[in-house]
Amino acid sequence: FQHKVLAGRRVLITAGPTFEPIDPVRGITNLSSGKMGYAVARAAREAGADVTLVSGPTALPTPHGVRRIDVLTAQQMHDVVMAGIEGQHVFIGVAAVADWRVANASDQKIKKAEGGGAPQLEFVQNADILATVAATTTLSGWPYCVGFAAESENLMAYGAAKREKKGIPLLVGNIGPQTFGQDENTIILFDETGPTLLPRADKLTLARQLVSEIAKRLERRSLL
Ligand code: C5P
Repeated sequence: FQHKVLAGRRVLITAGPTFEPIDPVRGITNLSSGKMGYAVARAAREAGADVTLVSGPTALPTPHGVRRIDVLTAQQMHDVVMAGIEGQHVFIGVAAVADWRVANASDQKIKKAEGGGAPQLEFVQNADILATVAATTTLSGWPYCVGFAAESENLMAYGAAKREKKGIPLLVGNIGPQTFGQDENTIILFDETGPTLLPRADKLTLARQLVSEIAKRLERRSLL
């Protein structure tokens, strides 16, 4: 589709949902299918990158030539990412990481109580993987960090703010109402120059456009 614009680059990508256990057979997850993250992994590989995909539970095949590491929880995803981040040129957080995990998860299957009482779950916040990686960015700008945002409203205002809050150079906003599980998407790229709309297209087309936008920015950065 394009030249190997990411040849010689190492790219680490998170994708899919996470699964936060309640007990050994139950848990909390979300509706992320992993399609966008897998499309980005495929597009980065096509562009010549060495790609590692850290994936929550999905039903998708591994893109050709991509190294895939499966995880279940946000904590596992965080640990695998941090163990592999050194030497990466690009980090792209596409995963829908659970904001909270169950603090009082049970080692054994929770039994239904006589009399209808229900378990009381407590939650604790998970680490923000993207913000953690962004905070390790070196002076020379590695790894180049890209985030995704799925806001239900007011994406234009929140997108720019989220980019700043996470401390990342590029944030990709999904235009709602519902992109999870769909084959198509409309996205807006927020960088230091403002928003750029990528019109509605299938996720692989958008992923290829995103990869070439990232490559352009890496090239500019290398010239500085
Ligand atoms: O803060 P919010 O969840 O809206 O930000 C979404 C972006 O942050 C995505 O790129 C997602 O992969 C990343 N993220 C993360 N770790 C978290 C929460 C979100 O890497 N715990």
